[in-house]
Amino acid sequence: MVNYKDLGLVNTRAMFAKAVKGGYAIPAFNFNNMEQMQAIIMAAVETKSPVILQISKGARNYANQTLLRYMAEGAVAYAKELGCGHPEIVLHLDHGDSYELCKNCIEMGFSSVMIDGSALPYDENVALTKKVVDFAHQHDVTVEGELGVLAGVEDEVSAAESHYTKPEEVIDFVTKTGVDSLAISIGTSHGAYKFTPEQCTVDPKTGRLLPPPLAFDVLEAVEEKLPGFPIVLHGSSSVPQEDVDIINSNGGCLKAAVGIPEEQLRKASKSAVCKINIDSDSRLAMTAAIRKTMAEKPAEFDPRKYLGPARDRMKELYMHKIINVLGSNGKISH
Ligand code: G3H
Ligand code: 13P
Ligand code: ZN
Repeated sequence: MVNYKDLGLVNTRAMFAKAVKGGYAIPAFNFNNMEQMQAIIMAAVETKSPVILQISKGARNYANQTLLRYMAEGAVAYAKELGCGHPEIVLHLDHGDSYELCKNCIEMGFSSVMIDGSALPYDENVALTKKVVDFAHQHDVTVEGELGVLAGVEDEVSAAESHYTKPEEVIDFVTKTGVDSLAISIGTSHGAYKFTPEQCTVDPKTGRLLPPPLAFDVLEAVEEKLPGFPIVLHGSSSVPQEDVDIINSNGGCLKAAVGIPEEQLRKASKSAVCKINIDSDSRLAMTAAIRKTMAEKPAEFDPRKYLGPARDRMKELYMHKIINVLGSNGKISH
């Protein structure tokens, strides 16, 4: 059993309480390779932001669970080397789908886990989530649960359509399970294709697709039921058009990719939403930079020559999210 505290990591409890009170959100960035991790830590240190490094089941399968765990431990040392005396870094399991996976991660040094029982019948979601919470809390590890279903596809989590969270269920769920935070469904979804063209309107000025607004009424109703309780938004990439254009003009083919407008995420960050999950935007930034470098320098074959610009572009993206969207910059005091 590895205790996350011995790795210099923190759980989400104090971080979320501060964020809810302060009207900002903590960035939860997925990572599965070294360049992403470096970019996340450089951005967090430069902006003095707390950060959640999150690992999906797919990432564990891709990059090896042991290596990723050591990378997270290395992230703490790296942040210190970059000048942050007391980094606030959470190592979080994203979309855990079984008790065994969550337990295994906790035993490997994760400081926070998500148990995603959102696709299960309500009572089964409650029972599974409670089982994970009971084990996690014995080790002071925090747990995120989920109520409501997000549309979209991830490696391990998929749903054809979304169902908004039912505000009338949240008190019962939180009380029965003891979760520390709750992911809700208010219209965000995973991936780079969050809405079909039919769900969007066309901006007459730019000709680009404008997505439907998030269901802030559902968020407000949840906040009313659970005042001050930490709320999480998944599927919160904005799918920057600039990156989509770079990809498409350098051999890529991303058609009608649409994300969540940043002004809506800015608004959500000021509410009880205290964790915002971003993965796809980082994938787009990385792919855009790699495609551009490869197109401009076809004779280049040193991976550092295209992964370096990819890392720079991801760092820029993470800093932008922290400073201009989530507002978590300057929240580490020492
Ligand atoms: O929401 C989940 C993340 O985007 C992880 O995706 O399962 O493809 O690693 P993944
Ligand atoms: P995006 O696909 O919008 O980046 O969402 C990521 C996510 O929710 C990870 O859990
Ligand atoms: Zn997610």
